[in-house]
Amino acid sequence: NMTSELAENILLHVEKNGETNSLDLVNVFNEDHQKIIGAIKSLQTLDNIIEVEQISHKKWEPTAEGKHVIQHGSHEAAVFFAVPENGILQAEIMNSVPYAKVGLSKALVAGWIKLDKSSGKPMVIRNVSSIEDTTQNNLKNFDNLTDNIKADYKKRKLLQEMIVKSVIVRKGPNFATKIEKLETELTSDLLINGAWKQKKFKKYNFDALGSSTDTGHLHPLLKVRAEFRNIFLEMGFEEMPTNNFVESSFWNFDALFQPQQHPARDAHDTFFISDPKYSTKFPQDYLAKVKQVHSKGGYGSEGYRYDWKVEEAQKNLLRTHTTAVSARMLYQLMQKGEFKPVKYFSIDRVFRNETLDATHLAEFHQIEGVVADYNLTLGDLIGTLYEFFKKLGIDKLEFKPAYNPYTEPSMEIFCFHEGLGKWIEIGNSGVFRPEMILPMGLPEKVNAIAWGLSLERPTMIKYGLNNIRDLVGPKVDLQMVYNNPICRLEKVNNRKSSKVNG
Ligand code: PHE
Repeated sequence: NMTSELAENILLHVEKNGETNSLDLVNVFNEDHQKIIGAIKSLQTLDNIIEVEQISHKKWEPTAEGKHVIQHGSHEAAVFFAVPENGILQAEIMNSVPYAKVGLSKALVAGWIKLDKSSGKPMVIRNVSSIEDTTQNNLKNFDNLTDNIKADYKKRKLLQEMIVKSVIVRKGPNFATKIEKLETELTSDLLINGAWKQKKFKKYNFDALGSSTDTGHLHPLLKVRAEFRNIFLEMGFEEMPTNNFVESSFWNFDALFQPQQHPARDAHDTFFISDPKYSTKFPQDYLAKVKQVHSKGGYGSEGYRYDWKVEEAQKNLLRTHTTAVSARMLYQLMQKGEFKPVKYFSIDRVFRNETLDATHLAEFHQIEGVVADYNLTLGDLIGTLYEFFKKLGIDKLEFKPAYNPYTEPSMEIFCFHEGLGKWIEIGNSGVFRPEMILPMGLPEKVNAIAWGLSLERPTMIKYGLNNIRDLVGPKVDLQMVYNNPICRLEKVNNRKSSKVNG
């Protein structure tokens, strides 16, 4: 083939002329330098036939503008020749001559022309009758100029300094002018007829990169989810079943002591289901207790004192938070007859009728944790949150009083973002209200602490994405999913900064 023919010709040339620069071979073989280098590289794969040394040197070359000057004359000469016997308006020169601005100032400095402003409109007038275009002449011979002049033309962007890479080829210890085709494989034929004794074998390249195997690639959200899941599992939490995106208002709101006229229960905030519009199966005795606590109070609470309607509780919706699942699980826990302390978690989708922007979509994933045990306090919640976030590499937390219908007290969780250098909100938490957990039948001495955060936010921070649409939806670049690295949240306890944060 072409390359091996060229390669053999190069060997012959080196045989005859000795050490040779690849650039010289361009003229010898009338071939592209790239092709020459390719042929030399193919010779290099053979066992010590040649030796190759990389070199680079600097070379001066006219720029595109410099080539223009070599061909058409300097800008200052062009201006000079554009000035007729009686002079010309400066404005006219500026409009008609290429590079007129530089040309004019250079021609003025050279004393070839002068400006006459006496008439009000500046005129350009010849100052000499003929000129010698040294710039053009110099550029034609740029190789022979002094360094100072070259530097001056470089400043004028007429010359540029290029780095030229080439190689020097010389004979190697096994030099030969014929390329012997090396065997790549020891076959049974070669073994049987003994031909292998005469053959030369190509060396294995143990440095070659293997071809990448085709496998599936997990989306960043799934990778970060797996990390959060591991953290919960390490802390002894049990995963809640979250496979029902459609919930009734009862479990999403009423069971959580969220009054029926609460603004979050508005269609502006919640996606209601039109078919089937209502759920009908509810545990009747529990439903009666929920109705009671809303409309009349109980368990030491005055309730909201309004007319609680089952029709409102029956409305189906896309769950707005996974706290609906927590409510169902705590209720079910007590259906087993006896209370035992539990730690539950879930990570799954929730839906909200949000105004969409760079960081909000109408659906996202919520990470939720709940602990129910005897005599839990706000201190237990704070301690648990520190333990949880420490496993993410976050050890600076701050809490801000907040309001949820189902928790009292409630706290927004802030963490210090080392990258942004400021506190950002990462979650919401609280102690479930007695009005929520006592109707479920949990013992009076039992408290439940809980918290929730979004999966998207830490994922965007971790993978450096600013727009949620780069992470979710039709505009996601599959190459991003293919390329993105595995997720390692720093689960080291004594680190100051955190990867999740930074
Ligand atoms: N459900 C809350 C939300 O949607 C999060 C939360 C969970 C708050 C548990 C307190 C307790 O933001």
